[in-house]
Amino acid sequence: MADIDQLKAELLASVEAASSLAALEDVRVHALGKKGAITEQMKGLGALSADERKSVGQALNSVKDAVAAAIEAKLAIMADAELNAKLLAEKIDVTLPQRPEADGFVHPISQTIEEVVAILGEMGFGVAEGPEIEDDWYNFTALNIPEDHPARQEHDTFYLPGVGDKGRKVLRTHTSPVQIRTLLKSKPPLRIIAPGRTYRCDYDATHSPMFHQVEGLVVDKTVHMGHLKGTLIEFCRAYFGLDDLPVRFRPSYFPFTEPSAEVDIGCTRAGGEFKIGHGDSWLEILGCGMVNPKVLENCGIDSTEYQGFAFGVGIERIAMLKYGIPDLRTFYESDLRWLRHYGFKALDVPSMVGGLNP
Ligand code: PHE
Repeated sequence: MADIDQLKAELLASVEAASSLAALEDVRVHALGKKGAITEQMKGLGALSADERKSVGQALNSVKDAVAAAIEAKLAIMADAELNAKLLAEKIDVTLPQRPEADGFVHPISQTIEEVVAILGEMGFGVAEGPEIEDDWYNFTALNIPEDHPARQEHDTFYLPGVGDKGRKVLRTHTSPVQIRTLLKSKPPLRIIAPGRTYRCDYDATHSPMFHQVEGLVVDKTVHMGHLKGTLIEFCRAYFGLDDLPVRFRPSYFPFTEPSAEVDIGCTRAGGEFKIGHGDSWLEILGCGMVNPKVLENCGIDSTEYQGFAFGVGIERIAMLKYGIPDLRTFYESDLRWLRHYGFKALDVPSMVGGLNP
């Protein structure tokens, strides 16, 4: 028994002395492992009388438990110490001045999305997302664009090979399928915007096969056209930074909204110079309307109880207008000189408090 007490004291001392995780692991193997000191002693139990076997066995088990507990405790201490050391090493001085960002600019597309999110976020819209490779059903059918609908032709869709459980896959032609995903996932009232990439098979100075949109969707019990108009007039004025920007709603058609409208903003081309604001001319910038009850029903929402409005804005288009970028294709050419000219400083994050373009 004296041997066992001594063994216990020795093992506990070596746990205490271990100064690294590796050393502690060595101690564990040496004490508790298959060929460890305690296991070796256990092997000798067979040679003892029944009484002795019981008392020595119990004593050895208690040594084993005590050593295991000591190792556990030491491990916890070491883990704490390691975390503390890491936290200390990672400490940053937040009062340091920023580094001058000599290179590196925020792309106008990212900046414009940030601006739109800042304006509509302030109005209580949350940001939603959906996949760029979309099921035909979400992109068309659920949005009240059935197989034989002429609107399908207008979208110049990129179809993917193969057929999924909701029809063939497409590269989404607009961000409107995020409306469907949101309506299926969450219960009204809801208020979301969904910025993202969209694809259509088209390419010239004003069309690119990949471009960006921001979708907006509001669904509640008493939402009406007045809310749609108020939201979008306010959005246009905030985005272009013109409190008196003329905004007009022109009747239009989309299968997923009824009634539908396109929104024009005032502009002038007087003297050969193009300017946004009061003038003799109008420019279309977005599509919108009251959510077609069929779309709500397709998503299992009772259209006699709920109604909503939706809109879709082309990001490139409003970026080109605000920042005077003449050719859409230059957005994707990765020309550094272009980015230096049209890009934004990384730390100029747009917000309604700090300003959209500080
Ligand atoms: N999805 C339409 C488009 O891409 C825009 C839109 C969105 C119109 C929502 C009405 C409502 O042209």
